[in-house]
Amino acid sequence: MSEDIFKQIISHAKEYGYIFQSSEIYDGLSAVYDYGQNGVELKNNIKQYWWKAMVQLNENIVGIDSAIFMHPTTWKASGHVDAFNDPLIDNKDSKKRYRADVLIEDYCGKLEAKIDKEVEKAAKRFGDAFDKAQFVSTNQRVVEYQQKIDETLKRMGKSLEKNDLADVKALIEELEITDPLTGSKNWTEVRQFNLMFGTKLGATTDTSMDLYLRPETAQGIFLNYLNVQKTGRMKIPFGIAQIGKAFRNEIVARQFIFRMREFEQMEMQFFVPPGTELDWFAKWKEIRLNWHKALGLGDENYRYHDHEKLAHYANAATDIEFKFPFGFKELEGIHSRTDFDLSQHQNFSGKKIQYFDNEKNESYVPFVVETSVGLDRLVLAIFSNSLKNETLEDGSERTVLALPPALAPIKAAILPLVKKDGLPEMAEKILNQLKFDFNVMYEEKDSIGKRYRRMDAIGTPFCITVDHDSLNDGAVTLRYRDSMKQERIPVEKLNEIIDREVNMKYLLAKI
Ligand code: GAP
Repeated sequence: MSEDIFKQIISHAKEYGYIFQSSEIYDGLSAVYDYGQNGVELKNNIKQYWWKAMVQLNENIVGIDSAIFMHPTTWKASGHVDAFNDPLIDNKDSKKRYRADVLIEDYCGKLEAKIDKEVEKAAKRFGDAFDKAQFVSTNQRVVEYQQKIDETLKRMGKSLEKNDLADVKALIEELEITDPLTGSKNWTEVRQFNLMFGTKLGATTDTSMDLYLRPETAQGIFLNYLNVQKTGRMKIPFGIAQIGKAFRNEIVARQFIFRMREFEQMEMQFFVPPGTELDWFAKWKEIRLNWHKALGLGDENYRYHDHEKLAHYANAATDIEFKFPFGFKELEGIHSRTDFDLSQHQNFSGKKIQYFDNEKNESYVPFVVETSVGLDRLVLAIFSNSLKNETLEDGSERTVLALPPALAPIKAAILPLVKKDGLPEMAEKILNQLKFDFNVMYEEKDSIGKRYRRMDAIGTPFCITVDHDSLNDGAVTLRYRDSMKQERIPVEKLNEIIDREVNMKYLLAKI
């Protein structure tokens, strides 16, 4: 990735009211971000796309909204108090702290970039006759790079699984990984660091209770499994979905909203009979990938990454990775979590958490397949993929945020050509006609060309221009963001035409 592209993404997000650094006037708070007037709309639209796809379109999935604060035993039972750690390493010269596994992954990322370069060069050399699959499996240099990546990740996965932190450090030294900022190789030992934020509930020191801010929303679902199953008369297999905030004291928080300390997750726990979990795991892998692909960001930008190292609760796990501007990285996790969580809560609470299966005439602790996607990572994926610098036919340049129309914060801008002669009044009437169906805005400042460019940059799919002819013929100019095509449309047709492009039901129908 060119640093410049990523910088453009961050500054564009700020300039057009999408994402601001938190507490900016106090010089900011590291890895904490606020969503602005357009960012919140984009985020809400993504939430809606997820909620409708998961809850509304599935008869056997219901939603909840559980509290962020939970009884502290929750985190003992779930394993987070003992095992929710990241391996950290400090550089003695720069005094900077890094995640040891991320340093190693970045090393592999550089090898991947080298492979991409070789492929690109060869594709240019061979033209149409280029066979990528054959090239990557036979070109000696590429094969060697790939072997190095595979060996490195495998060794790291094994060492982390065994908690062999000395070997993780040895690997960093053998690969001659240097501090990305200073180039120093003077590393400390690798240590484990718990990612949960602690806080206190209660006013006085003797009565207060130590709490954690939840590091995942999933536990709120597990703790409500019985409540929902009983009150909703849910029959297995069924799912519980939730969207909410999660908090992690990330060691290295960087790459903008990719890794934050406060973020939002959209999670669904699907409860199934024991022994069927791997079939459901395979199904949910496919369903979730299709959901992503329907957004139209390019099928080639997604891939699965099956885990070598499984979390303490899983018997299968995969990531859906997306090609972010800095390479393929995790966007969503799909985990077969066995009966680990419900069994642990049963043990720690002493309450029976089971399901009576009428068909089998037996009780059991259900197994769980989880889908978990980071909302902020989705925002970053969609935003960065949509941001384009175009050179137009006349040689001029424009920056357009070609968001999927159903997700765009503002669906149409209504623009009177001039601020007089009754045009603003007619524009106002059109705004009132459209505002019950869509989020629309009125804009009269600057020349019409400048206003079009601004709406392109915000990602608004339609501009509606009211001119002097409009007063006589009751028609307006409708401009399409992506093609920049303009057509004359009677005002009464506007709702229907806009709806055809932006209604979420057409996006949902593609899944
Ligand atoms: N309940 C399972 C779970 O939390 P995870 O893989 O740790 O699994 C799920 O997280 C998703 O949450 C990730 O795929 C990612 O999209 C998002 N996520 C995790 N940590 C994040 C962070 N620090 N900042 C932004 N998103 C994060």
